[in-house]
Amino acid sequence: MRHLLAASDLTAEQALAILDTAREMEAVQAREVKKLPTLRGRTIVNLFFEDSTRTRSSFEIAGKWLSADVVNVSGKGSSVSKGESLRDTALTVTAMGVDAIVVRHPASGAAHRLAGWVDCHVINAGDGTHEHPTQALLDAYTLRERLGSLAGRHVAIVGDIAHSRVARSDVTLLTALGARVTLVGPPTLLPAGVGSWPCATSWDFDRVLRGAVDGPVDAVMMLRIQRERMGGGYFPTEREYAAEYGLSPERLALLGETAPVLHPGPMNRGLEISSAAADSPRSAVLRQVRSGVAVRMAVLYQILGGAGAPEAGVEAAGQ
Ligand code: NCD
Repeated sequence: MRHLLAASDLTAEQALAILDTAREMEAVQAREVKKLPTLRGRTIVNLFFEDSTRTRSSFEIAGKWLSADVVNVSGKGSSVSKGESLRDTALTVTAMGVDAIVVRHPASGAAHRLAGWVDCHVINAGDGTHEHPTQALLDAYTLRERLGSLAGRHVAIVGDIAHSRVARSDVTLLTALGARVTLVGPPTLLPAGVGSWPCATSWDFDRVLRGAVDGPVDAVMMLRIQRERMGGGYFPTEREYAAEYGLSPERLALLGETAPVLHPGPMNRGLEISSAAADSPRSAVLRQVRSGVAVRMAVLYQILGGAGAPEAGVEAAGQ
């Protein structure tokens, strides 16, 4: 695999291989010495043009635990704020001899463009409202941990679907792994063309939670209302949105007792998710964060590690 730009870059077999490798990587996280020598001598640049807490630090920790050198370059504080183009910034970074760029950018398609300009590996860490493939992998990983297999499972993804690259990548990956997905949100927040996506849609969260749309729900993923990508007017008031689409304690009670609650973060507590849901034992939000490091280690390993079994590195670290 040369790049990871979209969830559709992965066959189901490749995705499962990454998830299995991630499980081995997670076993390493439990050790006192977490480092593997696998990517020693490799350099990864995190090129982030949008704010990020978990994705950037997760890629940084993943790279470091594989012994790569990781450099962070952000839009703020770099020559981008002096007007440098994405292409010039990328070519400048690669001229230093880096092996991979992990890129986050507000423009949909930016990661694909970048991959056409540079000769190193490119991993998409979120481009506009388009794709966020490693988030989809960590969501799939978390769901597998909680539900066993994804085959035949019904996942409801709820909220601001229109602006969500997570929803796009999740629909592709989760359905490829055999799950059924129902997207739930007000019509204004369902994207144009959603009818052609391989999933059901609904405007009625309560009906979905009662199992009236494509059967009982095995897991629910709440999405952040992305105010920074909105011009306003998508719903009357935040109060009304929370009343119709927020995961309130009452709605949490409608969910099956073993059904996990996911959220990619950052959460708007009191808007799309109540604190009761976010902090309940069913919440998998911090599990997702933890899974994220293991999954990104697996992705970096698959892309940069070359031949050889991951166990080789795992064993070396244990010596
Ligand atoms: C998501 C993103 O940036 O797309 N967050 C994340 O990567 N953890 C979702 C969001 O910003 O709401």
